[in-house]
Amino acid sequence: MKKVQLHINGFKRIVLVDSNETILETLRNRLYLTGTKQCCDEGTCGSCTILVDGIPVLGCLTPTVRCEGKTIVTIEGISSGDDLHPVQKQLVKNGGLQCGFCTPGVVITAIPYLEENPNPTVNDIKEGLSGNLCRCTGYKKIIEAVKNAAEELNT
Ligand code: FES
Ligand code: FES
Repeated sequence: MKKVQLHINGFKRIVLVDSNETILETLRNRLYLTGTKQCCDEGTCGSCTILVDGIPVLGCLTPTVRCEGKTIVTIEGISSGDDLHPVQKQLVKNGGLQCGFCTPGVVITAIPYLEENPNPTVNDIKEGLSGNLCRCTGYKKIIEAVKNAAEELNT
């Protein structure tokens, strides 16, 4: 077991982990932060996306020991209480989620994407979210929601 210090959603956490354990497993199984979803476990679906030092990474491919000292944001750290982030609000408003399984990954991917691309076209958003698979919505409403979130963030 190895001791790893992490800063997660504003809190310092020290965890003992196996050397081959992923940060997705640590978040879900040791820290009970189950908002980050586990699906393919091989880097293809995007449902396990988290921010590590502000950059979206796939939790299922990232060893926890490589996160030593880093700042991590999960979906639990995005809203302020009941005050949802504009991306979350627009997903709800535009019907951009059904079962919700892909939604944490979509939100975590879209937020830094919109910070870097404040005026994206629909095609830009499709490309930006191409790593996040959704089995329910057909993507159209997710893309509309992210477009509307961009407009909301720009007002
Ligand atoms: S669970 Fe990580 S990409 Fe699918
Ligand atoms: S809303 Fe069900 S997988 Fe996207």
